[in-house]
Amino acid sequence: MTHVKIAPSLLAADFGNLQKDVEMVNQSEADWHHIDIMDGVFVPNISFGMPVLKVISRHATKPLDVHLMIVDPDRYIKTFAQLGAQILTVHYEACTHLHRTVQAIKDEGMQAGVAINPHTPVNVLSDIIDDIDLVCVMSVNPGYGGQSFIENTYEKIRKLKKLIAKKDSNALIEIDGGVNANNAPKLVEKGADVLVAGSFVFRSDNPKQTIADLSAVEVS
Ligand code: DX5
Ligand code: ZN
Repeated sequence: MTHVKIAPSLLAADFGNLQKDVEMVNQSEADWHHIDIMDGVFVPNISFGMPVLKVISRHATKPLDVHLMIVDPDRYIKTFAQLGAQILTVHYEACTHLHRTVQAIKDEGMQAGVAINPHTPVNVLSDIIDDIDLVCVMSVNPGYGGQSFIENTYEKIRKLKKLIAKKDSNALIEIDGGVNANNAPKLVEKGADVLVAGSFVFRSDNPKQTIADLSAVEVS
């Protein structure tokens, strides 16, 4: 049985001491560093950009899972590859020519992810699921950390798993937003492959242990 991957979201890290938090993730049982890029247009919030990602990239020892919450992401695909992104996720809702965007990500040697907002049905991915490496199912409306998990996510995972099986796709299912110790077991049971967790990890007393606990979640 493969264990669930954990991707702590650095959005909830201490930006006054980012190196320390990146190193904590390095030393933890986390699998990826999840990095949220927001432009203030696709989502209301602005997070951080290239100079900060450069610093993260310099210190991180695990794959960088970069989640772009920006309009017209095609403009920056090359830049994110140069900054060391290994998985680059764009939003379905932000891409008019999603197939072309996905190919461009893969042409730069990265794995291609597609994120869907809570209102977006999984079946819109039907004709692209074969081409992508990861589907990021947003379990909150993107833009902020610390929001409450949307319960309908379980049903979306079920439908997505069915679609992946039907199309014989290898895409991983990543869940992003409001993940914690209460919903993690059910998410894994439903078929989540990767759990993103921001506030739950970084606001806990012992983030490294919290990551270890999430990583140990198994289907009962
Ligand atoms: C939300 C971001 C998430 C966020 C998750 O727009 O995509 O990655 O950092 O944070 P929590 O785990 O606090 O909901
Ligand atoms: Zn994210």
